Amino acid sequence: MWAAKELFPLLALVAQVLGEGLDANINYGSPSRRHSGLGLDIPQIQRRFVKRDDKAYDPKELNFTHGVASGDPYPNSVILWTRVAPSLKSDTSDVVVTGNVPYYSHDTETYIKASKNPICVEYKVYSDKEARKVADKGTAYTTSDIDFTLKVEAKNLKPFSTYWYQFNVCGTDIRSPLGRTKTSPNANDNGKDISLAVFSCANFSNGYFNAYGNVARKDNVDYVVHLGDYIYEIGRGELGKDERATDPPHDIFTLYDYRTRIGQHRLDLDLRATHEKFAWIPVWDDHEVANNAYRDGMSALNNTEESFLNDGPGISVDQRKVNAVRAYFEWMPIRQVEMDDNLRIWRSFQLGKTLDLIMLDTRNYDRSIVDLGWNDNYIQLLKGHAARTLMGSRQENWFYNQLSQSQKRGATWRVIGNQILFSRNQRIVKGKPTIATGNWNGYTANRDRVYKHLYDNNIGNNIMLAGDSHKNWVSDLAWVEQRPYDSATGEGAVGVEFAGTAVTSNPGGFGDTIASAESMATEFGTNNAELQWVEGYYRGYYELHVSPKQVQAKFYGSPSVATRNAWEIPLANFTVKAGANRLSRPLADGRVESGFLKDGAVTHSNLTLNTETGEWKVIGFEKRFI
Ligand SMILES: *[C@@H]1O[C@H](CO)[C@@H](O)[C@H](O)[C@H]1NC(C)=O
Ligand SMILES: *[C@@H]1O[C@H](CO)[C@@H](O)[C@H](O)[C@H]1NC(C)=O
Ligand SMILES: *[C@@H]1O[C@H](CO)[C@@H](O)[C@H](O)[C@H]1NC(C)=O
Ligand SMILES: *[C@@H]1O[C@H](CO)[C@@H](O)[C@H](O)[C@H]1NC(C)=O
Ligand SMILES: *[C@@H]1O[C@H](CO)[C@@H](O)[C@H](O)[C@H]1NC(C)=O
Repeated sequence: MWAAKELFPLLALVAQVLGEGLDANINYGSPSRRHSGLGLDIPQIQRRFVKRDDKAYDPKELNFTHGVASGDPYPNSVILWTRVAPSLKSDTSDVVVTGNVPYYSHDTETYIKASKNPICVEYKVYSDKEARKVADKGTAYTTSDIDFTLKVEAKNLKPFSTYWYQFNVCGTDIRSPLGRTKTSPNANDNGKDISLAVFSCANFSNGYFNAYGNVARKDNVDYVVHLGDYIYEIGRGELGKDERATDPPHDIFTLYDYRTRIGQHRLDLDLRATHEKFAWIPVWDDHEVANNAYRDGMSALNNTEESFLNDGPGISVDQRKVNAVRAYFEWMPIRQVEMDDNLRIWRSFQLGKTLDLIMLDTRNYDRSIVDLGWNDNYIQLLKGHAARTLMGSRQENWFYNQLSQSQKRGATWRVIGNQILFSRNQRIVKGKPTIATGNWNGYTANRDRVYKHLYDNNIGNNIMLAGDSHKNWVSDLAWVEQRPYDSATGEGAVGVEFAGTAVTSNPGGFGDTIASAESMATEFGTNNAELQWVEGYYRGYYELHVSPKQVQAKFYGSPSVATRNAWEIPLANFTVKAGANRLSRPLADGRVESGFLKDGAVTHSNLTLNTETGEWKVIGFEKRFI
């Protein structure tokens, strides 16, 4: 017989889990609570606990496996993330298929074991780094149903303040690392300076994530913005044998695959360090699902039954997207906006009166067909068609409303976190102007509508961000087809675009030497009036320092991603004055390190900073990639 004192804690646990318990972990609502085809069957999960009379895991079996992360800052709250899991060998419970998404990996033939009882985790948020003054705390549960991830909203916080946070297994001193985060300013706070590090395109097997590590070591931004391609879906190499081989080793399709791939990234020490130090505001691009993902398909998967025939992956486009999206929301420290609306991720942040940050999804939500290899000529013919959309009408209208409301509320800057290059990037091939259509240049009527909204409503101080291309592109935001624009002064533009290079991905087409990269940069730079700097040799990131008076963008490169190292080379700095709506001249204070600059000097100083020691050195790496 159970003694009452033994029974009581178990009953209390069950009562708590049935009550508020599972709700505190946001991931039980991922991707959707209301769509029976998408979400978890919470009552079924709860019945599983009630039926079993075993204890939850012995705390000694549990570990915080992937560090901590935080994100989507609001003035009084922020999202906190961790993962706590039993060691695999202890997980000997029966195979249980939960919800509507079976835990089945199609090629490894492994089922993920369902956890017996929920793991109880406490979290505390501190206003000091010695972790003495508690600002908020709470309890939440996790299980195998959500890959043992835990995502909670820390509340009751003060605006634009730094906090530290830590998780522990309930009633034990098994603790996660101590993370640091920061809330956003109040929407009406005046005069705040806000700085962001902007990343995109981290191809794990192509090299080391030095760019992430450098930002963590330098520690001079408030938040991290990630414009997508946080993971790639491709499989490369053999684990345990090849450097930076992917896990799983094959291309990913299932929920298990996507979780495993993101999990592998989160063991990377440089990526982990930026998650542990900064609140992130990420969006996905295509590779969080698969190459060239759009509304109805991807390069290597059509929305047809072909996938199930002739050794195809045996998965539909929609199921693959749901798998990818669910793993993303489980693992990323972000809020759920309105997932019942086509797995929506687009959302916005009011960062004081200084800026509004508008995060778009130009990929997976509702994008018309993109060039997929077999249809490129067809897309060239269609690119200006008015019906073509990157965002879908719901998101597009929301975007215009956001821009207008931002101006109306008196925010100085509108910063738009977008995936793909917005400005023109034409060059002459065999005597003919040629333009790549995988970005806004394949949706020119859509781009015209954006420009029209900005020009017609006199909305200025717009800063467009982009990733995706694996190169640096800096342009005045100028509607060159429709409005006068002076390339020398920037007169006539409505803002500036800062598009950044990749953390590690290949620059494609720019060759492997500075000479080839600069010759290609020159071809682009001389064929587009609004394009002022192009650079395609270095991997890296940029910082955006936003104040009520000006925006400064500072671009950095990693001399080599073939090794894990702390070196970084300043590539170029640009300033945009409030009200000017164009890059300040002289461009880049007259000098950049590399690439093509429309008016000014390109000098290869090779002067490189070690972000760990503070040492400067003239340095040239021969081997750039793994
Ligand atoms: C937890 O992590 C520590 C440190 O990495 C390790 O020594 C220990 O074996 C792990 N415990 C389990 C149960 O996996
Ligand atoms: C998708 O369909 C197109 C058009 O029929 C075809 O050319 C292409 O090979 C298909 N792709 C895949 C991955 O099946
Ligand atoms: C990613 O890295 C792998 C391994 O180096 C390479 O084969 C692939 O082409 C890369 N893709 C991109 C987009 O960088
Ligand atoms: C950009 O400014 C930083 C100081 O913030 C400086 O260290 C760097 O050398 C500048 N970069 C260039 C290319 O001039
Ligand atoms: C910088 O590196 C480039 C490429 O390796 C080389 O051509 C150039 O001479 C170097 N410049 C200096 C000042 O060392």
